[in-house]
Formats: sequence, structure tokens, C-alpha cells
Amino acid sequence: MVATSPQPPYEDPRITAVVNGLIETGWHVHENFLSAAEVAALAAETRALWAGEDAFRQAGVGVGPTLKVRPEIRSDYVLWLDPTAPTPAQLPYVTLLEQLRFAINQALFLGLFEFEGFLAVYPPGSFYQKHLDNFLGARHRLVTCVLYLNPAWQPGDGGELRLYPDEAAPERFVDIAPRGGTLACFLSERFPHEVLPARQERFSLTGWFRLRATDIL
Ligand code: OGA
Ligand code: MN
Repeated sequence: MVATSPQPPYEDPRITAVVNGLIETGWHVHENFLSAAEVAALAAETRALWAGEDAFRQAGVGVGPTLKVRPEIRSDYVLWLDPTAPTPAQLPYVTLLEQLRFAINQALFLGLFEFEGFLAVYPPGSFYQKHLDNFLGARHRLVTCVLYLNPAWQPGDGGELRLYPDEAAPERFVDIAPRGGTLACFLSERFPHEVLPARQERFSLTGWFRLRATDIL
């Protein structure tokens, strides 16, 4: 009998690359995580919603009753997604994220239960100061995923994600360009990060893999 090695439930090289990055360093940047057409569809949907009257809200800081709009800390606008009813434009990404969630659970035993996410718009001049995603009261957020939706992004447009990857050298940082199709993924509790001021309108789909509320100690 020929022995066959067990097949991983995921074979997509994009998923493997992100999971390996999380295992090795706790963070990973994947360019072209979606195709140009998939990114264009998400960007068009975001643009249409942003142009509409009343879909986006000024983003807040904090969770639940402590949530406050603090434009001196973050000045983006957000529109929360309904994970149970992805639009056709959202479906390819939501489908990949499900595979990624499953693969992360297999590799890192995190027990991720679901993804919660929002479309974010940073108008020119807006930013998000250095922070941790898993601040007090949000311990259920374990893995951050940001997908950028700016196909025409160029150096000089600003809005880079500045990630501080090294606890032992807190001044060290890496800047990640918010170019269309790039995914930034990192363990939410480990890495302070900020969004540098955008000089052009900047779109993203941002969110977290989280625990089920009843799994939080
Ligand atoms: C956030 C955040 C990073 C980005 O929304 O918490 O840090 O690059 N976003 O948009
Ligand atoms: Mn953040």
C-alpha cells in the first residue's frame, strides 16, 4: 500500500503563506491576495456606498458603552458589514477568509469563531494614531485582517499602515502601502500599529477573527 501524506484541508498558496507568516512572526503582508477584478468590484461598491447619503459613520474608539468618536485619535469613517449576507463583491473575500479562519485554527489552535468587519474610508487628512486592536473590553479580537482597496495608490498618497513588529525594539516599524489587493494580517494582541495621514481618499475592508463571546475567559 502506498502511504499518502494527509491532505491539508486548505491548498490555496495564499492561505498557506498567511498562516506560515502568522506562525513565524505573528504577522504577514500578502500582495495580490485578491485579483484585480475582485478588488475593483469591492472598491466600486465602497465608492458607491461612500457617495450615498447616509451609509458610513464616523469611526469610534472603544467598545460598547465606552465607544466615542475621537477624531483626534482616529478620523476615518466606517460601515459595518453583515457577515451573514455578503454582497456579490464581498463574497470572494468572505469565502477566502473562511478558509483562512479554518487554517489558522488548525495551525495555531486559536478557536476563531467568526469574522467581523467593516468598510473604512480615510478622507484626505485622516489618520488613526498608534493603538492595539485588542484593547480593554475587546479581548475577543485575536487576528486582524486589513484588505486594501486602492488600485491606483502611489508613494506620496500616504495612508500607510505602520506596524511595530518588535517588542524588544519598540521604535522599529514597517510601513505597508495600502495598495489594492494587499492583505495585512497580524495577531491583534501583539502589534501596535497606526495609519499614517492619508493624502488621497483611502479605502479598506478591515476586521477581526474573534472568539465566540462565551469562549472569553
Ligand atoms: C483599525 C486599523 C489599519 C489600516 O481599523 O483598527 O488599525 O491599515 N486599521 O486601515
Ligand atoms: Mn487597528
